Amino acid sequence: MYPIPREPVADATLSLLSEGYRYISRRCESLDSDIFQTRLMMSPAICMMGEEAASVFYAPGRFVRKHAMPPTALRLLQDVGSVQLQEGAEHLLRKQLFMSFMTRDAMERLMQLSAAHWRARFRRWESLPQVVLLEEAEAVLCRAVCAWSGLTLTEREASRRTAEFSAMIDGAGAVGPRNWRGMLRRARTERWARGVIDAVRNGGLRLAPGSPAEAIARFAGSDGRVLDSKTAAIELINLLRPTVAVARYIVFAALALHAFPACRRRLLGGDEDYLDMFVQEVRRYYPFFPAVGGIVDKAFDWRGMHFEKGTWVLLDLYGTNHDGRLWEEPFAFMPERFAQWKGSAHSLIPQGAGDFFHGHRCPGEWITIELVKTAVRLLLHEVRYEVPRQDLRVDLGRMPAMPASGFIIGNARRTG
Ligand code: HEM
Repeated sequence: MYPIPREPVADATLSLLSEGYRYISRRCESLDSDIFQTRLMMSPAICMMGEEAASVFYAPGRFVRKHAMPPTALRLLQDVGSVQLQEGAEHLLRKQLFMSFMTRDAMERLMQLSAAHWRARFRRWESLPQVVLLEEAEAVLCRAVCAWSGLTLTEREASRRTAEFSAMIDGAGAVGPRNWRGMLRRARTERWARGVIDAVRNGGLRLAPGSPAEAIARFAGSDGRVLDSKTAAIELINLLRPTVAVARYIVFAALALHAFPACRRRLLGGDEDYLDMFVQEVRRYYPFFPAVGGIVDKAFDWRGMHFEKGTWVLLDLYGTNHDGRLWEEPFAFMPERFAQWKGSAHSLIPQGAGDFFHGHRCPGEWITIELVKTAVRLLLHEVRYEVPRQDLRVDLGRMPAMPASGFIIGNARRTG
C-alpha cells in the first residue's frame, strides 16, 4: 500500500477558514497529488479532488454522511434526520420523494411562478432608485417555491421566510455571529414548518393533492409510517431553503452578464443553446459549496491507498470544477467549453456527482438550472438597468461567497 501524502501541519483549520474555496486544490497542487491527509477541527481528514476522486466518493454504498459535516453547518443545511443523512432503502425512498417533484410539468409550473414574481418585482423596481439583486432574487424564489409547494403565504410571512432562509444559507459556512444568526432564524422556520405539517395531517390545512408540501406531510418511510413532524418539517425546509439559495447563482449570472459583455451580446440574440452553456459555466466558474464530506462506511483501496472504515474524507467540489485536466483555462469564463462537454456525471459537480437516486447528488439540479435560465431571460429581455459603481469582488475566503455588494442595480425600466 502507498501512504497518502500528508500536509505537514498540526491542524489546518485556520488555513481552511482563510483560504476557503482554494484550500484543498492549493495543497493538492503543492503536494502534486489528487489526495492528501491533514487535520481539520482537531480530527484527521483526507481531502481529495478531480473526476476520479468524485467517482470514488460518489460510488453507492461507500460513504455515509452522518458525522461528516460540522454541526454548525449541518443544522443550517440538511439537518439531523434529513434525506442526506439516510442511506440504503430509507434514502432511496426519500430521494424518490424529492425526485417526484421534478417532473416536466411541475418544473414548468415553478418557472411560470418565478417569472410572474420577477415581473412583479420589475414593476416595483421602477419606483426605486436602486435594489440589491440578491435580496430581490431571494424574495422572488421564496414566494415562487412556497406557492409551488402548495403553501399560501401573506406578504408578511413571505418576507419573514425569505429573511430566515437567507440567514440560514449565509450562516452555513461561518463560525461565530453569522452562524448564530442563521441558527436563531432556523428555530423559527422549523416551528412554522412543523405547524404546516401538523395542520395538513389534522385537516386544519388543505393543500392541493399531490403538491410537494402535501406529499411530504403524507410520505411514509421504509417502516411504512409517516415521518415524525420534526423530520417532515426538516424535509419541507430542505425543499424550500435550497431553492431560495438559487438566488446566489442568479446573482452570479447577472455578474457574468455585466463582466463579460460578449456573452451578454450573444445571449441577447436569443440563442437557447448558448443560454444552456452559459448557465452551466456559471455553475462551474462561480463558488458555492466548497466541498462535501463523507465517512468511509466500507473499507476500500484506491490507487494503492487504503481507506479505513470511519475515515473522514472531503471531496473538493470547487477544485474539481476548476481542475485544469478537465477544463481548459479553468479560471476563464467560457460558456463555449460546454459545446464539447460529454456530460460526465463526475466532472461538473457544484451540486454533487454520480447518480440522483442511488447517491446523494442534489435532486434540485434541474430546477436550479431552469430557475437561473428563467431569470437570465427576463433580466435580458424584459428590463433594462444600470450597474452603479460598487464592490463586486468575490472573496474566496468567505463561505458562501458572493459579490460583496450583493449586486446593486439602479434605474431599472421595463422593456418587455
Ligand atoms: C444535495 C448543492 C439546490 C435539495 C446537494 C449536494 C450538493 C448540493 C453539493 C450533495 C451533498 C452530498 O453529496 O452529500 C446545491 C447547490 C444548489 C442546490 C449548490 C444551488 C442553489 C438545491 C435545490 C434543492 C436541493 C433547488 C431542492 C430540491 C437538496 C437535497 C439534497 C441536496 C434534498 C440531499 C440529497 C441526498 O442526500 O440524496 N445539494 N443544491 N438543492 N440538495 Fe442541493
